[in-house]
Amino acid sequence: MRFDVITLLPELVESVTQVGVTGRAATRGLIELHCWNPRDFTEDVHRTVDDRPYGGGPGMVMKAESLLKTIRAARKASLAVNKTAKVIYLSPQGKQLDQSAVRKMSAGTDAEQGLILLCGRYEGIDERIIELEVDEEWSIGDYVLSGGELGAMVIIDAITRLLPDVLGHKDSAEQDSFTDNLLDCEHFTRPEVVEDLQIPAVLKSGDHKAIAKWRRKQAIGRTYQRRPDLLLKNSLSSDDKTLLEEYLNEQDL
Ligand SMILES: C[S@@+](CC[C@H](N)C(=O)[O-])C[C@H]1O[C@@H](n2cnc3c(N)ncnc32)[C@H](O)[C@@H]1O
Repeated sequence: MRFDVITLLPELVESVTQVGVTGRAATRGLIELHCWNPRDFTEDVHRTVDDRPYGGGPGMVMKAESLLKTIRAARKASLAVNKTAKVIYLSPQGKQLDQSAVRKMSAGTDAEQGLILLCGRYEGIDERIIELEVDEEWSIGDYVLSGGELGAMVIIDAITRLLPDVLGHKDSAEQDSFTDNLLDCEHFTRPEVVEDLQIPAVLKSGDHKAIAKWRRKQAIGRTYQRRPDLLLKNSLSSDDKTLLEEYLNEQDL
């Protein structure tokens, strides 16, 4: 999948292709990242990309002209190899990103859907850019960052791990939190005892059916305790309801 990122800080965004899961995906050609710096689309000697806000007030606003040129160049390049090239503006005022949105963004990523991620800085971008060129606005949470780059990296990371062949084990992403509107169960690794704390005995039993049942029970129970809002979106089967009852009894709840 191809990502085009419009940013004043390309070196920050490019780090996503240098490390970890996304780094390996880039090396293996499963994702491609292209950064576009609006400063390269300015015409004045100072390469100015911002200006004072109309009406006064603090801070600066990213100017429309260089952004328009940058977005259009990125869209043209992306459409040369993709069927679509949606422009997403990272914004605290956008719809809040969640796993189902990420899943939709990654669906059908047979190298035909490009994404162009537009990162604001300063007080944000000239509103007319949103009207003219932005297809969707997404927020990564109810807090304000200094720029959209971390949001773009979050989207790239979250999508990449859902792409075919990216994760070592094909089931890894399917067992993660938010699949089926459930949180993941807890995980343990060697050694068996850490400061008197044992691992649950069932995990050593070798009984795969019992282990799968225990994991499902923990996932449902944890979700009930930590994120009951997710369970409201999930119609639990009668087996799952029994597991939840068992979990609550075991926890004395
Ligand atoms: C300092 S913020 C501007 C905030 C803007 N004045 C407001 O209050 O809505 C600069 C840029 O950071 C990015 N940004 C900030 N918070 C974000 C969030 N929660 N999610 C996604 N992007 C965010 C946006 O691209 C924004 O244009």
